[in-house]
Amino acid sequence: MTDTAFWHPFAAMGAVRDSEFVVVRGEDVWLWDESGRRYLDATASLWCVNAGHGRTEIADAVAAQMRELATYHTFTDFVSRPVQELTRRLSGLAPMPDAKIFLASGGGEAIETAAKMAREYFARTGERERTVLVSRTNAYHGTHGFGTSLAGIPPNRLAAPFVPDVVQVTWNDPEALEAELLRIGPERVAAFFCEPVIGAGGVLPPPPGYIERVREICSKHGVLLVIDSVICGFGRLGDWFGVDRFGIEPDLVIFAKGVTSGYLPLAGVVAHGRVAAPFFERGAPPFRHGATYAGHPTVAAAALANLDVLEGEGLLKRAEGLEGQLHDALLTLADHPLVTEVRGGTGVLGAVEIDSERLAANPGLVGALSVAARERGVLVRPMVSAIGFSPPLTFAEEHLDVLTDAMRGALDAAR
Ligand SMILES: Cc1ncc(COP(=O)(O)O)c(C=O)c1O
Repeated sequence: MTDTAFWHPFAAMGAVRDSEFVVVRGEDVWLWDESGRRYLDATASLWCVNAGHGRTEIADAVAAQMRELATYHTFTDFVSRPVQELTRRLSGLAPMPDAKIFLASGGGEAIETAAKMAREYFARTGERERTVLVSRTNAYHGTHGFGTSLAGIPPNRLAAPFVPDVVQVTWNDPEALEAELLRIGPERVAAFFCEPVIGAGGVLPPPPGYIERVREICSKHGVLLVIDSVICGFGRLGDWFGVDRFGIEPDLVIFAKGVTSGYLPLAGVVAHGRVAAPFFERGAPPFRHGATYAGHPTVAAAALANLDVLEGEGLLKRAEGLEGQLHDALLTLADHPLVTEVRGGTGVLGAVEIDSERLAANPGLVGALSVAARERGVLVRPMVSAIGFSPPLTFAEEHLDVLTDAMRGALDAAR
């Protein structure tokens, strides 16, 4: 094979340059490579194909929109019908009143938007000194400027110096957040960024009461709570924005991935009406932020068709059942000598943690395990020290058996 011209994200190109894995077709939970071999997609691409692959409804909606009005920008007063309809619909589904929706092309771009929005909200409401952003260890918020600075996964924090005024607290202790706010001076803090279930950092469900308590702490100190539901939204936690089970009202919510089931790139920030108000007041100056594709009509059409699928097939409800089934299936791997922990049970998300001594002796072990699972016909996600699972919400019982058989085989091969 000749060298590729494609520079892969998060890849050791020295190894990948002449050994790419080419996927050519997708249908529901299955993918095919160029040799015609079939694989079970146990990660829904990168945690995003919630509705499953090959949805002709979405393809048809995209083609129809492309014929009508493929693209146009939304700067100043321009908008298209699908963008109006989508944002109205998302606002109605949002877990906070009078929600306004700012659109972007990917989760990282939405994080940038939220970071700037939070700081500017305080500048507009007379608390200009509130500039500090707080995130958590093990957090993943994309790889743009703010996202890299907010990152809590150590190998992703290699682009220092970072954005100023970004600090981190331990991921599982709400009192550590309050202690840090008091150390900095709460009057200097703009926002706390928090994934409901930490995803790329290893699939870490929050300790019981954690999300509820950080909500209280943020409210007490006037800090905006930014819920990053890029992974957790659109059914992955059984609801639209990944917070219903905690019964909290966020100030900002980041969404991406599942909003189109990954069919086209879309993300956004949902702003509580109170946070949007200083931007929407008559005479308020513009928020000088946004990208060419913020509110792309064809992408919005894909999202609307995807929401129809998720709603029409009751996939959010289905996810509620699948979360326990996935966790139970993964627990059958808990007795394997290479597995030190099985995580899951909060959303259709799971992980098996790999023995740290074995990992220290062989840093490539997690990657090798994911390749070994692929050789056994199942696509899984290598993370820093664990293998992750986030299947389409259409996964059935028989698929769980295929998944655990392949994973056990891969673990056995590495013993
Ligand atoms: C929680 C979270 N936030 C942000 C992002 C960044 O999204 P994107 O890759 O679309 O930039 C991700 C991506 O996986 C994510 O998991």
